[in-house]
Amino acid sequence: MILNPKRREQVLPLPVVLISTISEEGVRNAAPWSNITPILRPLEEIVLASWLKRDTLDNIRVTGEFVVNVPSADMAEAVKICSRNYPPETDEFEEANLAPRPSTKVAPPGIEGCIAWMECELVEEILRERFSLIVGRVVHLEADDRYFDQEGNMDFERAKPLSAILGHQGVRYTRQVSAGSEQRYSEMFLGKG
Ligand SMILES: Cc1cc2nc3c(=O)[nH]c(=O)nc-3n(C[C@H](O)[C@H](O)[C@H](O)COP(=O)(O)O)c2cc1C
Repeated sequence: MILNPKRREQVLPLPVVLISTISEEGVRNAAPWSNITPILRPLEEIVLASWLKRDTLDNIRVTGEFVVNVPSADMAEAVKICSRNYPPETDEFEEANLAPRPSTKVAPPGIEGCIAWMECELVEEILRERFSLIVGRVVHLEADDRYFDQEGNMDFERAKPLSAILGHQGVRYTRQVSAGSEQRYSEMFLGKG
């Protein structure tokens, strides 16, 4: 099957996070995001892509701060509510019945009940004609002890981080299962015993 290149997101499973921000006036906002990725392991920066008409983008520009919350699959309904284009003066924590979780290093609260929280500061905005790329630095990272071992490895079968396949007409929410295979990073370097 040949697909239109514009449909490239349909062939990639993507993560789903909730980005929490506050406006200049202090209004709390939460929005689902899939176009987001760490920039290379093991650095501290992440990048997200945003259409220009987003309260999230406006808030990040004004405050320079945001929290990337990792929701579980059980939170799909709240994710759907947050995807609605409420006006900037609407408190989306209230709309989606989200409990705020005080952040450590940034002003926007995180979202209680998530699996992990990345508190981020804006590093750079790469503005293009129709969208913007936001480069952020994770300044504080916390994860729910219940789902992580001592080394910080996630038990994803229990934590159930939410992901999605973005289809032609809408979103199918998904979750991960093990492929039954693991690999150590050291295996990638030939010649080292
Ligand atoms: C699963 C999912 C992923 C999304 N990913 C993005 C994204 O990566 N970038 C983006 O600009 N909008 C994305 N959206 C759309 C925004 O979440 C939606 O427009 C939301 O209303 C924006 O809220 P805001 O205006 O309060 O920032 C996504 C929506 C869903 C449901």
